[in-house]
Amino acid sequence: MCGIVGYIGKKPALPVLLSGLKRLEYRGYDSYGFCILEKKKDVFLYKKKGKISELQEDFSNIKGQIGIAHTRWATTGAVSEQNTHPHFDCHKNIFLVHNGIIENYQELKEQLIKEGHQFTSETDTEVLAHLIEKYFDDNLEEAVRQALKEVRGTYGIAVISKKDPEKIVAAKLGSPLILGINDNEFLVASDPAAIISSTRQIITLDDNEIAVLSPDKFFILKEKPIEKIEWDIEDAQKQGFSHFMLKEIFEEPEAIKKSIVGRMILEQGLAKLGGLDEVSERLKKIEKVVIIACGTASYAGKVGEYMFEEYAKIPTKLEIASEFRYKNSILDDKTAVLAISQSGETIDTLEAIKEAKRKGCLTLGLVNTVGSSIARETDAGVYCRVGQEIAVASTKAFISQLSILALITVFLGRQRGMSLTTGKRILQELEKLPDLARKILNKSDDIKDLAKKYSEYRNFFFLARKYNFPIAQEGAIKLKEIAWKIHAEGYPGGEIKHGPIALIDENFPTVVICPSDSVYDKMKNALEEIKARKGKILAVITQGNDEIKNLADDVIYIPKTLEMLTPILTTIPLHLFAAYLGLELGLDIDKPRNLAKSVTVE
Ligand code: AGP
Ligand code: GLU
Repeated sequence: MCGIVGYIGKKPALPVLLSGLKRLEYRGYDSYGFCILEKKKDVFLYKKKGKISELQEDFSNIKGQIGIAHTRWATTGAVSEQNTHPHFDCHKNIFLVHNGIIENYQELKEQLIKEGHQFTSETDTEVLAHLIEKYFDDNLEEAVRQALKEVRGTYGIAVISKKDPEKIVAAKLGSPLILGINDNEFLVASDPAAIISSTRQIITLDDNEIAVLSPDKFFILKEKPIEKIEWDIEDAQKQGFSHFMLKEIFEEPEAIKKSIVGRMILEQGLAKLGGLDEVSERLKKIEKVVIIACGTASYAGKVGEYMFEEYAKIPTKLEIASEFRYKNSILDDKTAVLAISQSGETIDTLEAIKEAKRKGCLTLGLVNTVGSSIARETDAGVYCRVGQEIAVASTKAFISQLSILALITVFLGRQRGMSLTTGKRILQELEKLPDLARKILNKSDDIKDLAKKYSEYRNFFFLARKYNFPIAQEGAIKLKEIAWKIHAEGYPGGEIKHGPIALIDENFPTVVICPSDSVYDKMKNALEEIKARKGKILAVITQGNDEIKNLADDVIYIPKTLEMLTPILTTIPLHLFAAYLGLELGLDIDKPRNLAKSVTVE
């Protein structure tokens, strides 16, 4: 969500800032802006609604070597140029960009207005500029430090001032912020993607730290090690696909492979998860698992709940992170709380982990982004290892989360009496999945045709039971976000007759996920009930099933696998279906409207 880039060095800052902002585009935004401090202490300030790619202006005469830039995803105040960052104080001396939400901004604003400050925007962010102005003497970092003491909420900020012009001051609480280190130049950004073309040497700022960057030096309040970014810029390119989302769906077989490779000891039926080793003894004593996540990651968590209870025999509950935080869950030191997150920055999940820690739980992470806030906050965990996911919709990371949850099931199960044979069987089937997933993708043209055929409908149900119920929810959320002209809901197969079936008619199709498993017969009943009401049916079934073919209007086949692993295969055609339907409707499937890649506000 929202992006920050700042540059201070010997080059004109603007090209660096613009290229950084472009690299952050995938996170989603509605407006953008930047300001550049020129030598004579002039400030060039620019704000615009819309996309950076539509920028026409020639900025070649802007040569200043200090600047900050921002893509905004509005939380407080409408999407307008006035509300776009950078924001400034009464005398346009101080300029800042901000990611996050200042929760007590109303009271601060009222007080500042009483003190004579004049506001020009509706944002929460602007209070920061005026607060810094209030405390400014001649030292910018000191003013920032004083101002932040009064603030409640979350922030990643970068600040510059005409009156203390040789520096950028950066600070964070709750929102991510990193520094980029180079010879004679420094950068600050909300995401390594923004600065990777300038440097690979980064420092991750911690909460409550303030960094000061000058053209020839930088300092933060405490010493921090310099890390190295390991992924490559090529990862961030489309590699021949029209959209990142399609590229990432086609990477799903590889995602399974990357998630499991080196993590199985087949002959002993054991999962080898290095990240959990150090807490292995404590895990043996755990009596309950609570999985916390948001959106798509929460559907992976729900599959995990079913896996853990059936195979690891450990009471497990999926909780939506934003709910978990504010209810009083019964937790203790015998509870493990597992956070699942692609970005590792989702604020609700991060804060839920902090709450679980306060309650004495063991906290674990299943995260894709290395070094992210959730990865650092949790006691132990497992990385997805599937590389950067750029499209707003989470696809390959979801597949990886499911694969790793199966590994964690074996890990926990083997600590609790799961037999060698069962452990081995799960791992052997997991190992076959990349090839089976490829078989589904080889039929992508059929799914494209189906998407075309179904693109005339505006409402969809997705139905399934047990392991695939969360996949019905995943199929529906993908359609909602990617093909957003369509409304879709995912339901447990047994629930439809308790109300929703009233909506079914020939204009309301249902995607029925119905592999040949322990609930197959029950799902067939639901299918018959829909058919009796003239509802159109697109069924996802197991290869070789000839029975459903005659009941459904259309079918998609998935290869046979173990019941607990079927979600990994049934998801793939549903991801493709959403992507192709979105394209069919002429939508930008990489950047659906109103959405952001990582949700760092509550
Ligand atoms: C996925 O397609 C969604 N855009 C969204 O639900 C996402 O999964 C959710 O915001 C959680 O993100 P995270 O995995 O980065 O924590
Ligand atoms: N809360 C700020 C605003 O609404 C920052 C939003 C963002 O993180 O982009 O302007």
